Amino acid sequence: MKVQGKPYRTIWLADDGRTVRIIDQTKLPFAFEVVDLKSLADAARAIAGMWVRGAPLIGATAAYGMALAMNGDSSDAGLDGAYQTLMATRPTAVNLRWALDDMKALLAPLPAGERAGLAYARAAEIADEDVEICSSIGEHGKGLIERAFEKKGSGPVNLLTHCNAGWLATVDWGTALAPIYKAFDAGIPVHVWVDETRPRNQGASLTAWELGQHGVPHTLIVDNVGGHLMQHGQVDLCITGTDRTAASGDVCNKIGTYLKALAAHDNGVPFYVALPGPTIDWTITDGVRDIPIEQRDAGEVTRLTGVDENGRVGAFSIAPAGTPAANYAFDVTPARLVTGLITERGVAEASTEGLKALYPEHA
Ligand code: MRU
Repeated sequence: MKVQGKPYRTIWLADDGRTVRIIDQTKLPFAFEVVDLKSLADAARAIAGMWVRGAPLIGATAAYGMALAMNGDSSDAGLDGAYQTLMATRPTAVNLRWALDDMKALLAPLPAGERAGLAYARAAEIADEDVEICSSIGEHGKGLIERAFEKKGSGPVNLLTHCNAGWLATVDWGTALAPIYKAFDAGIPVHVWVDETRPRNQGASLTAWELGQHGVPHTLIVDNVGGHLMQHGQVDLCITGTDRTAASGDVCNKIGTYLKALAAHDNGVPFYVALPGPTIDWTITDGVRDIPIEQRDAGEVTRLTGVDENGRVGAFSIAPAGTPAANYAFDVTPARLVTGLITERGVAEASTEGLKALYPEHA
C-alpha cells in the first residue's frame, strides 16, 4: 500500500540482500520511521517490542529472524537457539509458530553452510505468499461488501473493525481491511467505524492512519460505542482479524473483539473474521480453553502515549500512581457468534466442517 503516494510493504530486504527493513509501528502515527534489523536479537526485539505486530507480520518477521540468525551462526545450536528465542517473543499469534516450524523443517536437514541462503529465500517466499493470500482474502471479502451495498440500495456500507488488521498487520493488503480496500478501489461507497482499541490504541494510531493514507472514509470511536451504533442501524457489517483460529472456528483476536461479536449477535449484524490459512491452529478445538492469552505490562493500561500541540510525543498517566491494572491482550470469540470466516480460499462457515471443506488437506 502507499505512504504519501509511495508503495511500501511492512518488511523487505535492503540492497545488501542481508539487512531486513521494517516500519517501526510504535512510532506511528506521529512519525514514519524505517528500522534496520541486522541480527536475531534485533528481530526478536522488534516482535516483542511490537515495532512489528499483527499475526501475519509477526510470522514473516520470525522467518526473516531465522535468516538473520543463520547469517550469524548457522550451526545446529544456532538454529535451535534462534527457534527458541523467536518462539518466546509473543505467545498468542500462531503464525509465529507456523513460520518457525516451516523454517526449521527446511533448514535442519541442510549442511550449515547452505542454511543462510535458503533461509533468506524461504523468508522472502513467506512474505510474498502473505501478500497473495491477503489479496485473495480481499477479493472474497469484497463480495460480501458488494452484496451489503446491493441490499442496502444506497451507500455507504458502514463497516466496523477492531484493532489493526490492515496492511500494517500483514506484509501488504491486510486481512480485515483487505476487503474494504478492494471494495473502495472498485468504487463501492464504504465508511469504516474504527475502534480505538485500548490499551495500545492500534485502531486510533494504525487503522485510522492507514485508512487515511488510502483515502477511505472512516470515523474513530472509543471501544464502547459499537453496541450503540449497532442498536441504531449504523453498522452493516463487522470485520475483524484473528491471531489464532481454532479448528472449531473459535477466533482469538485483540481484547474487546468478543464484546463486539456479542453486540453484533444481539443486533443481527453480520460478524465476519478475516484470516490467512497459517492463522488456523489445527491442534486446538476449544479456543476459549486452549488458546494462550498474552498478558502485557500494566503500564499500557495506566499510561497513554500521544502528541501535544507543539508536536512533542510523550506518555502520561491516567490513573492514580500505583493503581493495580490487568492487561489481557486478546480474547476468544466462540464460533457460534461468527457469521463467517473470510479466507484466501473463500468464505467458510465458522465450524470444523466449514474449515475442513476449504482446507481438505487437514481433514
Ligand atoms: O497485539 P497486536 O497489535 O499484534 O494484535 C493484532 C491483532 O489483534 C490483529 O487483529 C490480528 O493480529 C490480525 S492481523 C491481520
